Amino acid sequence: MKALILSGGKGTRLRPITHTSAKQLVPVANKPILFYGIEAIVECGIKDIGIVVGETRAEIESAVGDGSKWGVRVTYIPQSAPLGLAHAVKISEEFIAGEPFVMYLGDNLIKDGIKPLVSEFASSRPDAQILLARVSNPNQFGVAELEDGRVRRLEEKPSAPKSDMALVGVYMFNAKIFDAVRAIKPSRRGELEITDAIQYLIDKGADVRPHVINGWWKDTGKLDDMLEANRIILSTKKKSLRGSVDSSSTIEGLVEIAEGAVVENSTIRGPVIVGENTRIVNSYIGPYTSIYYNVVVENSEIEHSIILENSRIKDIKRLEDSLIGQNVEISRTLKKPAAYRIMVGDSSRVEII
Ligand code: DAU
Repeated sequence: MKALILSGGKGTRLRPITHTSAKQLVPVANKPILFYGIEAIVECGIKDIGIVVGETRAEIESAVGDGSKWGVRVTYIPQSAPLGLAHAVKISEEFIAGEPFVMYLGDNLIKDGIKPLVSEFASSRPDAQILLARVSNPNQFGVAELEDGRVRRLEEKPSAPKSDMALVGVYMFNAKIFDAVRAIKPSRRGELEITDAIQYLIDKGADVRPHVINGWWKDTGKLDDMLEANRIILSTKKKSLRGSVDSSSTIEGLVEIAEGAVVENSTIRGPVIVGENTRIVNSYIGPYTSIYYNVVVENSEIEHSIILENSRIKDIKRLEDSLIGQNVEISRTLKKPAAYRIMVGDSSRVEII
């Protein structure tokens, strides 16, 4: 079996973070989302992974490399524009070369992995297997209508969903999917939809099996989803203090402090993860916070947030529910006139008290 990870696309819902970087590389608990997908695939024993890439190819390639750090082979498949999930499948036909495969959307996170699901598909060999999960906002997903345990209809982001069963971003196919992606036409939003391709298989009488998952799953395309994913993953971490923590600091609960990190005169209340060479000085870091590498936090309080690499937070009373990008500086000023002086990128969101 092979695997195809989709890591192209635009990432409009995570702007401005995605103006400068791939949404699949935004870290959750200090690990790029994409790596969770790669690990889930590696766990299934799959050795050949194709990654569909778009504009952010260089960045994805430099983060993932040739796959050797996971003991797998990675082949990059360039997509000229984000023309849809089924388009990504279409351009991958040569790489897949007739084998059954699992397709994994690079911005999805499935906490329990996919090993049993892939084994089930490999042993029962249907034409396709789709994963479904009940959601409260089905209009934001592909939605499935089931009848007697079989998939009857699929609809992409319907305004009036006929069920609360959303398509999770992991699909398993055999080579029949290539006939389907060649046959379908672009949708109203101009994309070749994988939901339409699977509907085509159903209409042709192919064996498309649904599998409802009950474990935690997230499509991390938006800020709130990122923060929730961060919360869930941090809660599964073990305590590990490899950096240096001075005697006037307090560490409570599940806290991971990476090598080279320094904590001085601060309180860290887990679940929290602090990355390599980050410095936390005279500060409070509260639950569900991930601080990536080379960050400085000084005289500040942060909770329920994600801070990316090389940023500096200084003299900030309280920061919550925030996603701070790379190389960002947030500080307090004594300059007169007293005023907010901000340089924020396009599509940024700032809430001030
Ligand atoms: O997350 C589950 C949902 O994923 C499903 O319920 C929907 O049926 C499915 O269409 C998809 O919806 P999204 O709107 O969330 O897809 P998105 O555009 O975010 O793309 C998913 C991943 O695939 C993301 O990592 C970007 C990548 N991608 C996307 C497109 C459109 C590509 O690599 N190429 C593309 O052309």
